[in-house]
Amino acid sequence: MHKNSKLTSERCVVYINEEEFDFEVKGSFFEGKDELLFNTSDNILSNVSWQNSGFSILKLFTEASFLDLQNSITTNIIEGLRKANIKINSDNFNLKDYHKYVTNAEDHFAVINHTRNLRNEDLKIDIEALEKLLSKHLKIKLSSIIKDLGRSHIQIRISRPDSLDINPPHRDSYLDYYKNILNIWIPISGCNDKSSLPIVPGSHLINERNIIRTDARSAYVNGNIYAVPCMLKTVDGPFKMIRPNPKETEALIFTPYLVHGAAVNLNSDITRISLELRFDKC
Ligand SMILES: [Fe+2]
Repeated sequence: MHKNSKLTSERCVVYINEEEFDFEVKGSFFEGKDELLFNTSDNILSNVSWQNSGFSILKLFTEASFLDLQNSITTNIIEGLRKANIKINSDNFNLKDYHKYVTNAEDHFAVINHTRNLRNEDLKIDIEALEKLLSKHLKIKLSSIIKDLGRSHIQIRISRPDSLDINPPHRDSYLDYYKNILNIWIPISGCNDKSSLPIVPGSHLINERNIIRTDARSAYVNGNIYAVPCMLKTVDGPFKMIRPNPKETEALIFTPYLVHGAAVNLNSDITRISLELRFDKC
């Protein structure tokens, strides 16, 4: 915690595909020091042509392997619903209808308590094939085991329509154990240009002195505390985000120093489900 900073409620304003969106965040906000945290001469993107934008889209799955993954995610969400004592008919449960069953914050937190802390073995996914594919693409050896955690870490993200099921704009790299990882964001269901993950292109190259943010584990959105800090804005104003919107079978891959989040779901009646994988430098 930075001394002298007081807990305040702020409106976090972002532009997503040029449309303004805002929500309340509670935290202790401060301006950073004069430093660039992203190491431009040695980082996980050193060997790729998209180092300056900080993100790319890559095809990761065949139609068949994507369907296997999607089915195993449905199984995990049904398990989360069961643990939360929410009754559904598992034979005809559709991921896009999640919000019709989970209608309050308490139930949603009970479900995501299960779905946000998964391991490779919880999903039907050929993780070794992905390690190989991504290592080849980045020309750097990667592993799904996060060194500092000693394990893999997979999260299913569920964002209901008309909700604040979002984390604030952030960089994963503010958490020490995510400094050298590659972020993978995979659309699973209900992902489109109104719900896909927003990012700020090139934002890994923004100096800390231009950023107003909270510390880690201290920002609240809608009463929910997040491990990642809230990046409220730059000293020049709100973040301008875009939705690269990868298709099913593809993934958005990006440096953990890239600003992302605020993935508000602007669809009227479709829950959005995505998957986050992380790969560490071996
Ligand atoms: Fe993140």
